Amino acid sequence: MEILDKINNLQTQIEAFLIENKEQLEQFRLKFLSQKGEIPALMDEMKNIAPENRKAFGMSVNQLKNLATNLHKEKLEAFASVVTKTQAPTDLTLPNAVDELGSMHPLTIVRNQIIAIFERMGFNQSEGPEIEDDFHNFTGLNFPENHPAREMQDTFFLEKNPDIALRTHTSSVQIRVMESKQPPMRTFSIGRVYRNEAISARAHCIFHQMEGFFIDENVSFADLKQTLYHFAKEMFGQDTQIRFRPSYFPFTEPSAEIDISCDMNNPKGCQLCGGSKNICKGTGWVEIGGSGMIDPNVLDNCGIDSKKYTGFAFGMGLERMTMLKYRIKDLRLFTENDLRFLKQFEGIEG
Ligand code: PHE
Repeated sequence: MEILDKINNLQTQIEAFLIENKEQLEQFRLKFLSQKGEIPALMDEMKNIAPENRKAFGMSVNQLKNLATNLHKEKLEAFASVVTKTQAPTDLTLPNAVDELGSMHPLTIVRNQIIAIFERMGFNQSEGPEIEDDFHNFTGLNFPENHPAREMQDTFFLEKNPDIALRTHTSSVQIRVMESKQPPMRTFSIGRVYRNEAISARAHCIFHQMEGFFIDENVSFADLKQTLYHFAKEMFGQDTQIRFRPSYFPFTEPSAEIDISCDMNNPKGCQLCGGSKNICKGTGWVEIGGSGMIDPNVLDNCGIDSKKYTGFAFGMGLERMTMLKYRIKDLRLFTENDLRFLKQFEGIEG
């Protein structure tokens, strides 16, 4: 009988236990349900019970256990829902949270501006692959086999097949277009190019170029000059001057580097560099690309009659132009994805 009293007593205790908060609930669990609690202790008494009474005893203890477990569960849920109720209620009539809109990357802005300017001059856009073969990147462009000119551009080759490389310039698109069409042609292409160069404020192993060319009967250097002069003024402002410096490229003859004036309105010289003069080196001129009259060998390589047709070509760096236009001093900013930098270009038309 003693054991029955114990069971009854425990039941009263369970029912009367004050559970008004989480701490009390935990005390309840410890007292009755935990391994060292009273209900498991009661289970241990089984061995002292006469075999014929064990079944009834077991059932009573189980009832007690269910009572305590259910009470614990009920209170646990009740306290959990109190927490959610004290949090801000969901107002279903509120408008949906709006995703923040991004803005165009400065290189995309400049790319779009370039496209608009050249399309107005009657150029159309062409594309070519970034993974190129030797012919389109070098040989077709009149780079002789094993010629040091190939080293002007530090190239990423595919180890297993040196015939394949990441294009080092967009001039490869010239070859692709010339192979597939006959003049007259006036086209440009913009895209990523790769060179094995250490990353610094002024160089990167991945950058962007735009390439343009014009082939027809009687195209001359004067046409090249006028086209680029017009482009520079449209892109950088009507006061912009251009300058050509003699240079060498295997695929153009004669060849010239294209410079634009850094900032003609600033009597102190170049505003971009400020006092540091790290971009124009104090000269007031900045190189934006290379150009020249397409070498007759290149035309012949692509099945275009070099006796009948002449053409000019030019290639320019997008990063360089963007840095000049928006006074950006470090090339690495373009690839860091820093919102403080990118947000400054919100609302600029591209
Ligand atoms: N492809 C040359 C370079 O990347 C630039 C260039 C293009 C020069 C077209 C002349 C004509 O350096």
